[in-house]
Amino acid sequence: MEKLRLALIGAGRIASKKHLEALLKNSDVIELVGVCDLIEDKAMALSRKYAEVLGKKPEISTSADYFFKRDDIDAVAIATSSGTHYDLTIGALDNGKHVLVEKPMALSTKHMDQMIDLAKRKNLKLAVSFQNRFNPPIVELRKKVEDGSFGRIFYGVASIRWNRNEDYYKQADWRGKWRSDGGVLMNQSTHNIDLLQWMLGGDVEEVVGFVENFNHPYIEAEDFGAAIVKFKSGAVGIIEGTSVVYPRNLEETLSIFGEKGTVKIGGLAVNRIEVWRFENEDSHPMMNLPDPDTVYGHGHVPLYRDFYESIDTGRDPAIPGEEGRKAVDIVLAIYKSYLEKKPVRFPFDFAAWEMEGIAW
Ligand SMILES: NC(=O)c1ccc[n+]([C@@H]2O[C@H](COP(=O)([O-])OP(=O)(O)OC[C@H]3O[C@@H](n4cnc5c(N)ncnc54)[C@H](O)[C@@H]3O)[C@@H](O)[C@H]2O)c1
Repeated sequence: MEKLRLALIGAGRIASKKHLEALLKNSDVIELVGVCDLIEDKAMALSRKYAEVLGKKPEISTSADYFFKRDDIDAVAIATSSGTHYDLTIGALDNGKHVLVEKPMALSTKHMDQMIDLAKRKNLKLAVSFQNRFNPPIVELRKKVEDGSFGRIFYGVASIRWNRNEDYYKQADWRGKWRSDGGVLMNQSTHNIDLLQWMLGGDVEEVVGFVENFNHPYIEAEDFGAAIVKFKSGAVGIIEGTSVVYPRNLEETLSIFGEKGTVKIGGLAVNRIEVWRFENEDSHPMMNLPDPDTVYGHGHVPLYRDFYESIDTGRDPAIPGEEGRKAVDIVLAIYKSYLEKKPVRFPFDFAAWEMEGIAW
């Protein structure tokens, strides 16, 4: 295939940092031909930064539809606020574009069903931005899960102990609202919940969840969540997600406990192996990796490469819609379980905005 011609929809924080980095580092196979943001200056700034390195300035527009309708564009990456992912993904797929969408792919089970179904019917790729699956320590852990080194996996724990203050929420008014975002579970914790479910077998039997807003009176959604997830594999997942840690981000850790193995991956954002114990191994060369410059890591670079290769070869992307929805399903089940005060059995239907009006 010639270079993949891509338009980037959304030119905010993550787009101008990580999507731009990934597009620059994959410029041998992907050409950024368009940048769209409702705020023209943001689209212009990103387009300029791209041109500073590669010389050619991508066209800008404030209308995503403008790029969706263009025949000379093969794919779009959607990095807009979470509540817009569904409409934009459907619009892009309807117009024959492959889609790489930021997490969370949508905020309702029905919306995710429709996105996955439409991509399948149109024979287009739908990939989801859970880039931490490409973190080198996570790749190492996944190999151990796949080759059976753990024996039976009993349980795993995903802890997200971060801080988000009022300044963060003031930067964008979609944050912390049920209809456009959700709270710390849906926003900050979905990466680690995705990793937990990936290691524990994916298919969920039931979820018991609790959420609270301890210290963020200016947002609608939760700043703390805890849950127990029973997987069909027999393994149990424990989730703890919070944005109230004083005074700054502490850690994001993933621990997996099996019959013949114990692994804890930690650091600021699951980027360093802290414990690695198997029958004849009790250390790993990745035990002393430094934290990356941001909690987002560098996974968008291989993520874009994988997206390109999936289109080029016709295989599934590493994280297709069916995989990308699993962490969102778990978060929605936690919300529903809290609302209804009972365990939620899979499959189920729920949307984050059904939490609107909840009194903390
Ligand atoms: N993968 C990750 O590690 C990661 C990290 C941060 C954020 N995110 C996700 O990325 C998304 C964006 O987050 P952010 O922090 O960059 O937000 P942001 O508010 O900084 O940027 C979002 C941008 O989208 C634009 N936008 C909104 N609706 C639009 C539309 N219909 N058409 C064109 N532009 C539109 C806004 O004007 C804004 O500039 C969220 O879904 C978030 O969950 C992912």
